Amino acid sequence: MKDKIAALEQSIIDFKIQSAGDAENFRIQFLGSKGEIKGLYADLKSVPNEDKKSVGQLINELRAKAENKLEEAKANFGNESSGSKSKITFDFSRPGENVNSGSHHPLSLVRKEIIEIFNRIGFNVSEGPEIEDDWHNFSALNFPPEHPARDMQDTFFITKGENEMALRTHTSSVQVRVMESQKPPIRTISPGRVYRNEAISARAHCFFHQVEGLYIDKNVSFADLKQTLLFFAREMFGEKAQIRLRPSYFPFTEPSAEVDVSCTLCNGDGCNVCKYSGWLEILGCGMVDPNVLEASGIDTNEYSGFAFGMGVERIAQLKYRVTDLRLYSENDLRFLKQFTPGY
Ligand code: PHE
Repeated sequence: MKDKIAALEQSIIDFKIQSAGDAENFRIQFLGSKGEIKGLYADLKSVPNEDKKSVGQLINELRAKAENKLEEAKANFGNESSGSKSKITFDFSRPGENVNSGSHHPLSLVRKEIIEIFNRIGFNVSEGPEIEDDWHNFSALNFPPEHPARDMQDTFFITKGENEMALRTHTSSVQVRVMESQKPPIRTISPGRVYRNEAISARAHCFFHQVEGLYIDKNVSFADLKQTLLFFAREMFGEKAQIRLRPSYFPFTEPSAEVDVSCTLCNGDGCNVCKYSGWLEILGCGMVDPNVLEASGIDTNEYSGFAFGMGVERIAQLKYRVTDLRLYSENDLRFLKQFTPGY
């Protein structure tokens, strides 16, 4: 019996496993239910009782060796053809499952489009902090300390006192930073989030997004401003778009104007979106007040400039006919999904 075991051990050692098929043959020959090791256990019956224990141990050891050899071979060749119950089948021709892709937020889409339009006529992009000091948000922009114009923008103050900090109420603050750090000619737009202490409703929110523009060079005139805004309106709302300017007031521009675009829905004929006026207000603008240029160290004998500022929500509202401002920040997938490409 011991010789038989030794002979079988030798043939297990000699068996060359070079493929998954070999591994399977090895399993059948030695470890299968009709395999040779099973046969040894059957022969154990005829071994005298006093030897049963030691011979049984030898067979167990042999089985362990055979199993180890098979495991090692499987690790090399995989077990795809092992024929056992653990066989993994994978149908590579099955169609894949859909991957849900996200979509850009409408405000991101519109901001990107505004930036692209102004890039085409040489404006770069500048950014600045959302927590601003009094100088950049107000004083440098010609708001004297007790000026009532500060009430125009209800401010969220963070710290009171000497170094008063607040959430910026407009991105004009970024333009002050640009004027302080760069020399004209300056052609820049400042996109970003701004904050005002307003009750949240369909028409107002305590935060929103702006793109403000600044152009400073020699001999910049109001005609340049008007032409730039007309270009913007036509790129954004189509060839037929018209603009009109109404006199207005901002502390940092003189003269100042508000700009309307011809209603994108009725082309100026009158509808309920434009309240039958044919016009929609889209932005504020004006020639930069000399006080503002001087405050940032720009020589007003040499340079002049214009500035404008628009709300991204407002432009997106006109483009996508969004009737409630709150939709932009509620993360309702039914709203957001509509901006998936190909929806
Ligand atoms: N900063 C103004 C606002 O937030 C917009 C504006 C910018 C107006 C530049 C004129 C010139 O309302």
